[in-house]
Amino acid sequence: MKGSVMIRRTLGLLACATLAACMQEPQEPTQPADAQAGRLLAERDCVGCHGLDGHGAAPGIPHLAAQPQQYLTDSLLAYRDGRRTHAALKDLTSHMSEDALRDVAAFYAGLPPLSPADPSAEPRPALTPLEQGQQLAQACADCHGADGNSTQPGVPSLAGQQPLYFMAASRAYLNGTRGTSDMKPALVGLSHIDLEKLALFYASQAPAARDAAPFGNPLAGATLSAACAGCHGAGGVSHDAATPSLAGQDPQYMVNALEAYRGHVRQHDVMLAERTREEIENIAAFYAVQPSRAAEYQPLTPEALAEKCDRCHGAGAAASGGVPVISGQDRTYLIMALRAYRDDRRESSLMHKMSMIYSDSMIEGLAHLYSNQPPP
Ligand code: HEC
Ligand code: HEC
Ligand code: HEC
Ligand code: HEC
Repeated sequence: MKGSVMIRRTLGLLACATLAACMQEPQEPTQPADAQAGRLLAERDCVGCHGLDGHGAAPGIPHLAAQPQQYLTDSLLAYRDGRRTHAALKDLTSHMSEDALRDVAAFYAGLPPLSPADPSAEPRPALTPLEQGQQLAQACADCHGADGNSTQPGVPSLAGQQPLYFMAASRAYLNGTRGTSDMKPALVGLSHIDLEKLALFYASQAPAARDAAPFGNPLAGATLSAACAGCHGAGGVSHDAATPSLAGQDPQYMVNALEAYRGHVRQHDVMLAERTREEIENIAAFYAVQPSRAAEYQPLTPEALAEKCDRCHGAGAAASGGVPVISGQDRTYLIMALRAYRDDRRESSLMHKMSMIYSDSMIEGLAHLYSNQPPP
């Protein structure tokens, strides 16, 4: 008994070393976990939501069958101590001793793994997020060009544009804070995830070279643009996902945009208000002919990303005890858990680092992938 505790502790420490992150040091249990006693507790307190086979009763309730015992114990303690928040679980666990929590964890950990959800019930989307973005972009092609290179004066190119800026601009039209044009009808009905796919598609398109603007003096514009390079990048190629690239942009659109800031139709607290019309035209003429390139964006597929996740969550690594099995887990629960890490609502410095860069569409892709995989 003492030996098995030692082995578990040693494994826990090994996990710390290999995962480069220390999980909570488990406290010495006062007695070995009793899965039979745990079953009685589960029949009384948990069956309605987790079943006696460890299957979540509804979407959003995690499956518990065959999870590592230490992970289940740690989670229950986290709910009890407020490190994870869930009203019902806080309530239940606050009435239970640590030994009782170990017992019920041992019961669920000892159950046979569940078979994954029927994959035919939710067919995997045949297209990648990038391809779906391309499909959605057909509705925008008449104005913005099929690949996001606009040829109409006054219509901005979207090719190569920074993805966070694209999202912010779209949201500004939708919530009415950007009243420069009636773009809202084109965007209404697109979900947040649709917009992310569009942003991803446009960001990865190569911006085309432009002819000289029919107005302005690009050389004079070059001098004036020194004040802009700090944010918009040298030559107008932005390296910040939230700041738009200006290189290769339609010059008439750029004049309209700068006039909109000047007239406070668009809000932006930089010194643009002080520019004359002539200066604005010169700046636009300069940027229009600067070479641009696609925003740096590596469109990963969920499958490619999962190879990284499997270093910790894969069949071999899951034995370390502190890392939950995510294969075969409830899809809705996986989405909720990943968003909670990303948005800092669930503590785990390790997982926060992992998930913070992921968009909602990537989280959905990962959840789909793992929920349909058989547990190890
Ligand atoms: C009212 C429904 C309900 C009841 C009753 C309930 N749970 Fe849960 N349980 C949930 C939900 C929902 C979550 C996910 C909460 C979250 O997002 O953190 C959860 C999460 C958990 C987790 C974390 C799983 C993971 O993968 O991180 C464990 C462990 C757990 N429950 C064990 C229990 C035990 C043991 C009992 C009985 C003592 C119990 N639960 C009773 C609904 C319930
Ligand atoms: C009828 C023509 C038209 C269609 C269709 C259209 N747009 Fe636009 N779009 C414009 C014009 C014109 C502007 C510039 C408006 C302004 O001055 O703010 C613009 C601006 C934008 C901007 C802001 C770009 C920037 O650099 O700030 C985004 C983002 C955008 N459109 C996305 C879309 C998407 C996504 C679709 C398809 C779902 C779409 N548009 C369909 C004409 C169109
Ligand atoms: C402090 C950083 C900063 C500086 C300096 C700056 N900008 Fe910007 N600029 C931004 C950000 C951020 C946005 C996006 C604002 C928004 O959402 O409307 C933007 C938007 C723009 C746009 C609209 C682009 C589009 O696609 O709609 C133009 C045009 C522009 N800036 C030109 C300039 C010029 C010209 C200068 C120099 C005279 C300049 N900016 C200086 C940060 C900056
Ligand atoms: C370096 C190791 C490591 C990597 C890599 C990693 N995870 Fe985790 N993951 C953990 C640990 C440890 C936990 C438990 C944290 C906690 O207690 O909240 C966890 C928890 C989770 C959970 C919550 C499961 C549950 O039952 O509540 C999900 C979902 C998850 N990870 C998904 C992923 C995905 C998807 C990736 C890849 C993008 C990934 N993880 C990469 C170590 C890792």
